[in-house]
Amino acid sequence: MIRRKNADWQLSNELVTPKRAFLNRRQIMQGMAVAGVTSLAGCGQGEALARQAPTDGQLSARSTGYAVADDLTPYEAVTGYNNFYEFGLGKGDPARYASAMTTSPWSIEVSGLTDIPRNYALEELVDFDALEERIYRLRCVEAWSMVIPWIGVPLGPIIDRLAPSGDARYVQFETYLNRSEMRGVRFPVLDWPYVEGLRLDEARNDLAFLAVGLYGEVLPNQNGAPIRLVVPWKYGYKSIKSISKIRFTAEQPDTSWNLSAPNEYGFYSNVNPNRAHPRWSQETERVIGGGLLERRQTDMFNGYEDQVAALYDGMDLIENH
Ligand code: MTE
Repeated sequence: MIRRKNADWQLSNELVTPKRAFLNRRQIMQGMAVAGVTSLAGCGQGEALARQAPTDGQLSARSTGYAVADDLTPYEAVTGYNNFYEFGLGKGDPARYASAMTTSPWSIEVSGLTDIPRNYALEELVDFDALEERIYRLRCVEAWSMVIPWIGVPLGPIIDRLAPSGDARYVQFETYLNRSEMRGVRFPVLDWPYVEGLRLDEARNDLAFLAVGLYGEVLPNQNGAPIRLVVPWKYGYKSIKSISKIRFTAEQPDTSWNLSAPNEYGFYSNVNPNRAHPRWSQETERVIGGGLLERRQTDMFNGYEDQVAALYDGMDLIENH
């Protein structure tokens, strides 16, 4: 077994556990559920690798050292205060309407500059017997944030399996689009389908994650079931939900928000308290689930400077916002 030294943003398990003791009752119970199934996770060795993706209920996950030195955001806020414009602009709309989305069976079409373009069943890409729990802060560009115990798999190894060819430099993700299931796409708020992108070296960074669950459970539809991106050093809109297509490109791909307002939303979208959004400051953020007035200082790269700053060496991060 390889023991890795914790990076600066990772807390040791000894630090994580007492933090959890401050959680409310529901959080403690859900935390215990995660820990309980974690201990069973090793028993599956030797069984078939891929099993069908569950559509609800609990998920087994190995706890990792990825943590944040703040309380978890209550489950009710994580699943009740959402941005998923395909279901409406109100923060409560996704929880109200996203259950209309069909999430099983699910496949992802992989195309562009890859040696093996084809459709993959979700289960071919994600081994549901080898999931990790990672606690990351999601910092929304609207200047609020949440701390969420995500469950999923690192993105980098999946990118490698999809075999981008030598001239591929970017990866674009696209959200599922179904006009009869998604009442919000009647309105031209964005140019549907929702698309996002990363440079390949960003996508291969150890922090980039594909989530299939949160709080020990299968991802609720409003949070991007059955599979969504979580890029913790970037504003929340990069963390595209309900991914149905992945495309490798040589040129920087379109992203929905960059297309709709390039002055406000750049391709990189790294959390940067020094660059104000043209209509508001990014220096602080509201803590969702905290008191009405509770705010915290926003950190450069959302606190992951040591892990990701090198990706942007020599770049002007105000111009390349
Ligand atoms: N993905 C899609 N397809 N549609 C969206 O509207 N909103 C983004 C991102 N992913 C969005 C999306 C924004 S602005 C944020 S802040 C996060 O999802 C919110 O994720 P959460 O609702 O799980 O907290």
